[in-house]
Formats: sequence, structure tokens, C-alpha cells
Amino acid sequence: MTPANPNDGSADGKNPQIALVPLTAAFASVASALHAKGFDDAWDEDAIIRLLDVPGAFGILAYRPGDAAKNAEDQPLGFVLMQTVLDEAEINTITVDPDARRMGVGRALLDAVTDRLQECGVNRILLEVAVDNDGAIALYRQNGFSEVGRRKGYYARAGGRKVDALVLERLI
Ligand SMILES: CC(C)(COP(=O)(O)OP(=O)(O)OC[C@H]1O[C@@H](n2cnc3c(N)ncnc32)[C@H](O)[C@@H]1OP(=O)(O)O)[C@@H](O)C(=O)NCCC(=O)NCCS
Repeated sequence: MTPANPNDGSADGKNPQIALVPLTAAFASVASALHAKGFDDAWDEDAIIRLLDVPGAFGILAYRPGDAAKNAEDQPLGFVLMQTVLDEAEINTITVDPDARRMGVGRALLDAVTDRLQECGVNRILLEVAVDNDGAIALYRQNGFSEVGRRKGYYARAGGRKVDALVLERLI
């Protein structure tokens, strides 16, 4: 994996262990494997390619660069998949490998999409998150998102249990 531009080599200038590249169809299997670690209803490669194919869609993949001297390969860390429509964007999904959580990867992905969206003239980001997903809600709140709605029974859990979704918004 090669960073798209030199500035992407360090996600936020603070953590040189996190590099970012555009998520293209070539990385669909990597993204699918990451998704399976984050969600029960994992998306396969085809689903990821289809979502990336929609006009206005884009994704960013985070990885830890390998050390060639030690023959260590790049390690995928997480990814985010976005959908833009005119001046709004939605987070389709964001996930970080369980072994790489609480290291700033999620924040780095959100920072990167925000930069890109601002360049494209997008001024509003929306997302849905399950009310019981405390970690994700904490990440979003910490990144300036606030609640603008609630969808009753939006997510179906094992055993048929329904869970509400919060609709969060961030103006950028
Ligand atoms: C939600 C998720 C993407 C967060 O990724 P992450 O890389 O661990 O997040 P970061 O390390 O960048 O966290 C940034 C801040 O968000 C908050 N945060 C993130 N995860 C948290 C958790 N589990 N509990 C409490 N706060 C959390 C903290 O404020 C954290 O800063 P700190 O570590 O300095 O305290 C990750 O937990 C994940 O992949 N979950 C499974 C998939 C998922 O639920 N995706 C969201 C669907 S809507």
C-alpha cells in the first residue's frame, strides 16, 4: 500500500504508525475482512465494490506501514466508507480492527474524510449509530457530532431484538 500523497503518510501528523490511502476496489477484500471483525452482518467484497461504485462514494483505508528491513508487511487497521450527495455526506460504515482500537485510527479516518469533504464543498455529515454502541457514540461526540433524530427499531439484533438508531450530524 502506498500513500496517495506524502501528507497522507501520517494521519494527523501525530501518529506516524497510521498511514491512509484511498479505499479502492483493489482493497475490497481487505475492507471486507475488517468489516467482518467489526459487525455481525459483514459485507463481502462485492458489496463493498458496489458501494464504492455509486457516484459520490469514496472510502479511506488506514494501515500501519510494514518495516521492509524486518520483512514485516503493511497491517490494515480500519476503513471508512462515505456517500456524498450534493453538499451532504453520510458515513456508510467505519470500522477499526479490534486489535488497533483506542489508538486514534477512528479519529484519523474521520479527520481525513472531513478534510476531503471540505475540499468538495460538503458542509454536513450524517450517520446512524445504534443507541447501545457506546464506543462509536463516544468517538462521534468527541469529533463534534450531535444528535438530530432517532429511528425506532432501526437495527435488528440476534434473536429478533430491535435497537433504535441515533441520527447524528456534524456541520463542517
Ligand atoms: C467505533 C470505532 C470505529 C472507534 O475506533 P477507534 O480507532 O478505537 O477510535 P479512536 O481510537 O480514534 O478513539 C477516539 C476517541 O473516541 C472515543 N472512543 C472511541 N472508542 C471508545 C470506546 N470504546 N469507549 C469510549 N470512548 C471511545 C474516545 O474519546 C477516544 O479517545 P481516547 O482514546 O483518547 O479516549 C471502533 O470501536 C469500531 O470499529 N467499532 C466496531 C464497528 C462500529 O461500531 N462502527 C461504528 C458503526 S456506527
